Amino acid sequence: DWKMDSFVETSIQALRERIGNGKVLCALSGGVDSSVAAVLLSKAVGKQLTCVFVDHGLLRKNEGDEVEEVFGPDGSYDLNFIRVNAQQRFYEKLAGAVEPEDKRKIIGEEFIRVFEEEAKKIGKVDFLVQGTIYPDVIESGLGKSAVIKSHHNVGGLPDYVDFKEIVEPLRLLFKDEVRAAGRELGIPEKLISRQPFPGPGLAIRIIGEVTEEKVRMLQDADAIYREEIAAADLEEKPDQYFAALTNMRSVGVMGDERTYDYAIALRAVTTTDFMTAEFAELPWALIGKVSSRIVNEVKHVNRVLYDCTGKPPATIEFE
Ligand code: XMP
Repeated sequence: DWKMDSFVETSIQALRERIGNGKVLCALSGGVDSSVAAVLLSKAVGKQLTCVFVDHGLLRKNEGDEVEEVFGPDGSYDLNFIRVNAQQRFYEKLAGAVEPEDKRKIIGEEFIRVFEEEAKKIGKVDFLVQGTIYPDVIESGLGKSAVIKSHHNVGGLPDYVDFKEIVEPLRLLFKDEVRAAGRELGIPEKLISRQPFPGPGLAIRIIGEVTEEKVRMLQDADAIYREEIAAADLEEKPDQYFAALTNMRSVGVMGDERTYDYAIALRAVTTTDFMTAEFAELPWALIGKVSSRIVNEVKHVNRVLYDCTGKPPATIEFE
């Protein structure tokens, strides 16, 4: 792709000139935008860049390790990588919180606190990287969605880090252009073609209180669902799909024992802009297979439901 080829070349050159021998800090989430931004910076200024990856314990199964494999010391990029294992801190803060907005707020604030602590250890930085892309620029201009849900984005870092300037290397790109740039930069396809994942992570896919045990259950169920969708011969994959843990327990039977366990909901939607969405019509055989694997492999789940609601009136996430 000659256009992306030249975007990458030009950006690296421009970043080098702008940054000189300055110190650069980047909050890496493992999502497409922050990953592409980080790699661009790494190509431009190498070890002058430090990436801080906060593992809040609300990521998908193995995701923290996958991010570390790509960006960590055994990965393929020239940069300083710091993984903060803040899982227990987040679980403790979340204990007892049941309201969606409370949970989002707790996670947003704790994230800032953790990041701030790391930034302090690094000391004065000259540039703070943000993975802002063009649709974010438009959206924040119109100020939408904030009213419906307080969006916590790992990118949104205002004044609590001591830095001089913001660098937003993807500011003019649409999502598919960011992906193309990522491919040009040799970032693994697994990372590039990732579906959107919300900042508050699995916390907004667990209805009600979040506990470490519930996170484990959901991670396992969700991994099974994603694995089966990847293996299925679908003409088109849904634009977003994931498992959610409802707060509902119901009676079931296993062997000759009565159970009283949780229900997992499967969500899959097709959408162009995520503002509205239709539920995806997955084949019953696929849903059946996912369901029987989940109830067999995930302890304390005895029921699987399929969410056949569009947006509106439902949202894509559960909280
Ligand atoms: P909803 O649930 O509002 O989701 O229909 C629309 C899209 O936005 C994502 N989403 C978020 N992304 N931080 C994010 O970075 C958030 O707090 C957040 N809430 C929802 C959601 O995954 C979907 O793609």
